[in-house]
Order: sequence, then structure tokens, then C-alpha cells
Amino acid sequence: MRIPFGTITVTKESRALINEALDTCKLSSGKLVKSFEAKFAHLVGAKEAVALSTGTDADILALAVLHDFGAKRNDEVIIPALSFVATGNAVLHAGFKPVFVDIERHTLNIDPKKIERAITPRTRAIMPVHLMGKPADMDAINRIARRHKLYVIEDAAEAHGAVYKGKNVGTLGDMAAYSLYIAHIITTIEGGIVTTDRADFAEVLRSLRSHGRACKCKVCVLNMGNTYCGKRFKYGEGSDIRFVFERIGYSCKMNELEAAVGIGSMTNYKRIIAKRRKNLLSMIEKFRKFEPWLFTIKEEKHEKIGPHAFAIIVGEKASFTRNELGMYLEKNGIETRHLFSSMPTQCPGFAYLGHKLGAFPNAEYMGNNGLHIGVHQELGPAHVNYFIRTVEKFFKEKGIKI
Ligand SMILES: Cc1ncc(COP(=O)(O)O)c(C=O)c1O
Repeated sequence: MRIPFGTITVTKESRALINEALDTCKLSSGKLVKSFEAKFAHLVGAKEAVALSTGTDADILALAVLHDFGAKRNDEVIIPALSFVATGNAVLHAGFKPVFVDIERHTLNIDPKKIERAITPRTRAIMPVHLMGKPADMDAINRIARRHKLYVIEDAAEAHGAVYKGKNVGTLGDMAAYSLYIAHIITTIEGGIVTTDRADFAEVLRSLRSHGRACKCKVCVLNMGNTYCGKRFKYGEGSDIRFVFERIGYSCKMNELEAAVGIGSMTNYKRIIAKRRKNLLSMIEKFRKFEPWLFTIKEEKHEKIGPHAFAIIVGEKASFTRNELGMYLEKNGIETRHLFSSMPTQCPGFAYLGHKLGAFPNAEYMGNNGLHIGVHQELGPAHVNYFIRTVEKFFKEKGIKI
């Protein structure tokens, strides 16, 4: 048996939309992207959604919006020390300085008790990550943000379908950034999207994704196949707003073929979420017997974990290493991924910031002892049981009695 990390379902509807787009040669960002944005905003419960090339772009652009709202280059953004490296990269690419805060071991998320001491006069935003789909403690984070007048941008890359105290993750801050990469629940193969309730943020996002242009209407007529836009020459005869660059921009639009895959993936959303949650909750339940050698995160009463993947954390008293377990799973057909690492102290790319190993003990622990595996919609009870049996066999070979 094999348990691949991810999968993708390309529906009949997507295939038909792709062929239609190919036949009409309308392939760059246009009506399918608009339709995907509207559907995604509706699903999350946000007023606006702006589709982009990747989830990393979603993180970068959500942060870069703040330059239009008072932030200065090299101002600071607070992020958890543990995340996929894109979170830290995004802060730097948006022109800010990442300020790292350690995580809680039992949630894998930023520790709200440690946020306030990281705030300085230059702090502009907090960007919590809902790692492995487990919602960060948004009430505590929003309280701190309100007290210090900071923006909150959710990195919801891994949190499709997550719910916190009855509200959808992605509606809990000023903006939320999602990845639509292939292993994620709603996918456009590569892709990302930012949701927000603020029309002024969405307008800046549309400008930023296209080089910072002054051309940023929600309903663009130019990319919908029309030839004349009444606003195009609003600065005067011959002065084209598409060549007026209002801010430092990026180039990260989504194309029509990607949006077509995304539209199909949303039609299947409820089925995919239900299947993945069933796999995740069953794994969480069956995994209890491996404590204290192995742990995972738990779903608490106030939340629903977005079923992105299953986290495996090797306990402190275990007589084996993460790499031994990982290799055993891989040799038995179960694909694994590390549970990321402490960006400031375990990712060589961030070494120039000068943080010392030991400064983020919980994030570093996950960097040395964490794995994650897939819970996707192609898997079912037989795969879950196979995974549990494989871990049991591993324990037996190591002489551990459970
Ligand atoms: C927490 C987090 N943030 C950002 C990203 C970046 O997304 P992408 O790979 O689509 O650029 C990822 C990727 O999975 C992620 O896990």
C-alpha cells in the first residue's frame, strides 16, 4: 500500500472550462479568475478575494498593502518562528523585518503570551499561521493587536475549512492569505488568494499583483474581452492608466486555466473536506496509544481543524529519532514531510539576521522532531489502518511495548 502526501482532483467542469478557454484563446487573468474570486470569497464569508500566482504571493501582497496604509520600509511584522519558510520570506519580500516569536508545543502555533514583549514602536502587523489547519488563538492575538493598533493578517495557507469559535478562519483578521498549491484543499495547481472585507485593501491588492498599476477596478472590462474602458484615459487623452504605476508592484496574476481548476475544486469542496476530516480525526483518535513516544495536535471544543495534513511529533523520552521513524514510514510507502523548522535559527537563509540556536526552543524542537503525512481525499479507513499498523510494527522492532 502507498500513502502519497497529496493528490489533485480535476473535475469534468474544470476540464470543460479549460477547453473553452483554450478554444477562445482567453488565457490570461479574466472572467474565470473573477468567477473563482467571487466563489472563494463567498465560501470563506469575506467580501473580497484577490487571486494570485502562489500562496507566498498572497502572504507578500497582503503585507505589501500596508505600505499604502502608513507602514514604512523596514517596519516590523511579528510571525511565529515555526512555519513553512514562505511566511518568513514573504515578510522580507514585502519590505519588512520579520520578528519571530516562539510557538506552543501543543498547538504548533504562535504563543500569544510571548507576543507583547516582541512589539516595538516599529511593529505594524502580526501574522499568525494556522499551522496544519489548527486555528491560532485569534481572540488573544486580536486583543493584543487592538491594544497596540496593529494589523492582523492570517497566514491561512494550510487552513481551508478551519473554524475558530464558530467563525471561518480567514475572516478573523484584516486579511487572510491562502495557498492553492496542489496539496491544499482548494487548489489551482499553483496559486494563492487573499480574502478581506475591505474594498480599499482589495483595490491595492489588484494593483500590486499587476506591477502597481493604477488599473485596479473590481470589474475589469479590459480583461473580460471588451476593447474600450471609459476609465483608461481618465488622466487625459493618451495617458493610459495601465502605464501609470502608483506603487512598487509585483507580477503575480492567476491565469484562466488555473482558475478553471479552482472552480472545479470548489464544486467538490464539501465532499473533499468531509473525507479529509474523517481521515484526520480517525488518525488523531488512533494515535493516542503511541503517547508519550509520539504526539499529534488535538482538536479542541472551540474549533474545527482544517484537514490539511497529520502532524507527528516524536516525544522527548522516545528511544528513536524522527529520521529513523521517517525512513521507516517512507520504506513502507508512506510519504513524509518534515514539520518545517525554526525559520530564524534552523533555516540557513535567515542566518544573516543573527539569531542564535536555542532562542526558539519549541520551534526548534519541531524542526528536529516533527513530521507530517497526508490525509487527502484519495485516502480512507484502509490507509489510516495501514499507517497505524506500520507505526505499531516500528514500535515492535524498537522493542517498545504499548
Ligand atoms: C504556512 C504556509 N504559508 C505559505 C505557504 C506558501 O504557499 P505556496 O506554496 O502556494 O507559495 C505555504 C505552502 O504550503 C504554507 O504552508
